[in-house]
Amino acid sequence: MPHAIVTNTERPDLVPVTARWRWEAFQQGRGRSLPEVTAAEAVGAASASLPRTFVLLVDGEPVGMASLAAHDLDTRPDLRPWLAGVFVAPHARGRGHAVRLVAAVEAEAVARGIPTLWLYTRSAEGLYARIGWRTVEMVSYREKVYALMRRDLSGSLG
Ligand SMILES: CC(C)(COP(=O)(O)OP(=O)(O)OC[C@H]1O[C@@H](n2cnc3c(N)ncnc32)[C@H](O)[C@@H]1OP(=O)(O)O)[C@@H](O)C(=O)NCCC(=O)NCCS
Repeated sequence: MPHAIVTNTERPDLVPVTARWRWEAFQQGRGRSLPEVTAAEAVGAASASLPRTFVLLVDGEPVGMASLAAHDLDTRPDLRPWLAGVFVAPHARGRGHAVRLVAAVEAEAVARGIPTLWLYTRSAEGLYARIGWRTVEMVSYREKVYALMRRDLSGSLG
């Protein structure tokens, strides 16, 4: 099946799709409404800088996303930028799509001369650890504990 990766900046018609995924997977429980998340998603997609949200298309159908974001974990504004919002639709999981999306974000970071990326996760530490990410510390956020991970890209910079 042919795969393609696009951004919702070049494909603003995908903004409602990525906003719904972001809302359902990450923000629904934090008191934000879908219209609020969709409005913020549109602003981000239209921005000249970050965030950049990559969408994986399989036969033209959007099946997952991952973002390069300036900020993600509110309690660590000192760290930037972040791999954020990694999501694959349930029916498309287990086929390497998350790894493809992470690779797209890492390639964008390298193209921008960014030497280090950060992420925080509660559920997918093992996935990231296998593709070059390192857990730096465990952090408490909103009464849950997350792995704070970093990816060193300096060896890929020209
Ligand atoms: C986590 C998620 C993005 C994985 O997507 P996916 O497309 O199924 O992942 P991949 O197929 O690329 O997985 C790559 C590898 O990681 C493994 N893996 C997948 N999810 C994993 C998890 N939660 N923890 C550890 N390993 C995981 C896969 O088995 C696969 O291993 P393999 O290469 O040995 O076969 C997806 O389950 C999802 O969207 N979950 C809900 C949102 C979420 O939790 N996002 C991450 C927040 S940081």
